[in-house]
Amino acid sequence: LLVSKNKLLLSGKKVVVTAGGTIERIDPVRYITNDSSGKMGFAIAKVAQEMGAEVQLIAANTSVEPPPGISLERVQSAGDMYDAVLRQWGACDMVVMAAAVADYRPLEVAQSKIKKKDSVLTLELVKNVDILESLGHSKKHQFLVGFAAETENIETYAIDKLERKNCDLIAANDVTVEGAGFGADHNAVQIYDRSGMVERIPVQSKEEVARKLLAIAAGRMGGVM
Ligand code: CTP
Ligand code: CA
Repeated sequence: LLVSKNKLLLSGKKVVVTAGGTIERIDPVRYITNDSSGKMGFAIAKVAQEMGAEVQLIAANTSVEPPPGISLERVQSAGDMYDAVLRQWGACDMVVMAAAVADYRPLEVAQSKIKKKDSVLTLELVKNVDILESLGHSKKHQFLVGFAAETENIETYAIDKLERKNCDLIAANDVTVEGAGFGADHNAVQIYDRSGMVERIPVQSKEEVARKLLAIAAGRMGGVM
């Protein structure tokens, strides 16, 4: 009974999930990205759908196949991802920002392949839009879940991000934990809200982590049946 009830915690909700690492072009054949595999975002999208939500996945560069049967929009850069999220924003009930959005992009994108010249090449980078922060400052009814990848001072940094970006929950992971985080099939996260730790989820499959995170989010969203 509990399981089937749990399964439908998100029925009638429209959930947007971002996944993967954004690709920031340097020239036509080169780009900057990061180690995000997309697995955590894909697991969240799959589980949200199982819990009854209508899910829109927005994925940048990923190293695994997306879950079948879920509406997927592929994007490259942080700017593209921002545009894609904004198109869904007004009509959605929850956004989960599991993507590893590049903090910076090349100031200029070379139109032709950059030729090898001097022994040192300097690439100028400019800050990208912070998608989560922008959503946080324009949110109305939407429930906003962020992630925080940290290597130290997890609680302090995570709560600082949560407040700065005005999100409702933040799932922080210590990316130095063996077998968890970037590229792994498992993850361990600590979930925080404004007043501190909500739950500590020890190392387990990304799908199990998604199930627990979404159950907490669903319980806190407005208008739950
Ligand atoms: N995020 C975002 N847009 C960005 C950067 C990050 O929406 N330009 C989102 C991520 O998807 C994640 C959260 O913000 O949900 C935290 O990302 P993280 O990289 O941990 O935090 P930053 O604020 O970028 O800070 P730093 O990298 O310096 O730790
Ligand atoms: Ca960052």
